[in-house]
Amino acid sequence: MIRRHINNIAPGMVLGKTIYGDNYEILLKKGIELTNDHIQGLKKRGIVCVYVEDDDTADIITHDIISEKVRTMVTKDVIRTYKKVSDSFKDSNLKESTSESIINSINSAKIKKAFQQNIELKQLNNGINLFIDEIMDKEILTGLNTIKTHDNYTYEHSVDSAIVALMFAKRLRLDSNKLKQIAIGELLHDIGKIFIDPEILNKQEKLSDHENEQIKKHPVFGYELLKDMEHVGFVAAHIAYQHHEWQDGTGYPRGLKGSNTFDIANVKGISYSGEDKLILPAEIAAITDFYDACVTNRPFRPPIPHDIVYELIRNGAETHFNNELVKYFLELLPKYPVGIEIKIKNGTYEGFAGFVFSLNRESLNRPIIKILYDNNKNKIKPIVIDLSSEGKDINIQCVF
Ligand SMILES: [Fe+2]
Ligand SMILES: [Fe+2]
Repeated sequence: MIRRHINNIAPGMVLGKTIYGDNYEILLKKGIELTNDHIQGLKKRGIVCVYVEDDDTADIITHDIISEKVRTMVTKDVIRTYKKVSDSFKDSNLKESTSESIINSINSAKIKKAFQQNIELKQLNNGINLFIDEIMDKEILTGLNTIKTHDNYTYEHSVDSAIVALMFAKRLRLDSNKLKQIAIGELLHDIGKIFIDPEILNKQEKLSDHENEQIKKHPVFGYELLKDMEHVGFVAAHIAYQHHEWQDGTGYPRGLKGSNTFDIANVKGISYSGEDKLILPAEIAAITDFYDACVTNRPFRPPIPHDIVYELIRNGAETHFNNELVKYFLELLPKYPVGIEIKIKNGTYEGFAGFVFSLNRESLNRPIIKILYDNNKNKIKPIVIDLSSEGKDINIQCVF
């Protein structure tokens, strides 16, 4: 299975990953042969790339980190929780409200009561154990990045961020109790966006300063909503509150500063206190949220190529992201994931294109590639090259 740009999808190609609609209903099931109507429909939904299977690339295997069954279950639980929150506020005119009045109504007795018997969150909590179990034996981020439509972005982004964060937290040797808190926090980190005007969230043009200020309130709204909610807890509420804070204090909403330190030897029994300290799970969320948002297409820009995102995270260490955490994160994250289209930048095959075939565990950023096209985009007899050995002088880049 490979990821192709929608402009390079032709009728007859077989869909490699199911594409879901805004309520996580199946739009197109994996395994179907795409028709011209399907392709036009996907373009209309703003989809930039899809996963397909074809004969030339049938031997490129990407492993999903979690099963479709568990992913569907958790995504639906997230959607139910979001719906419960928006239904509880359907009588308030959020568009016309000031931030202060939104916070007041979140903290009103009526709303607190509505969340006392929170079946949706209880259900989400129950499902999370299965979700964590499936992630536990995976070592490297593969088969990621669902194809998100603009309508289901928030839900799928929440689930993908949670998967990445759990793998990361496991690598950092956090205990199972912390993993659970991180899972809930990541799944609900953007829930405050319910209180932001959707027209601003989905705007294609550059946002005005005022609109930017509006968006920057979602961590506060999320925290106010989650802080007293049953089945949530301190860590998860603070992930919502702090996931846009940066190490140098230039993040939002409070401009908290980080310490750029992390000691894996002392991670056991870590506890959090005080409202004004940047907590480790939120520092994890700052990286995982950024990563998933970058590799996804948004209304205002196409997805950013993986190798560029990798460099953005590396360069963001110390100023934006906890320096020590970034080192661990980049050990999990292949710069060129399996199934991604690449182009050769130098040597005999300069300008030739193909896909990442498989990874070298010992040399994560020097994968095995399969070249399929020459520099005039003509199909050639496939050439497989291991960039960690015979192809060690070859440089590649992701195409999109
Ligand atoms: Fe956010
Ligand atoms: Fe986010």
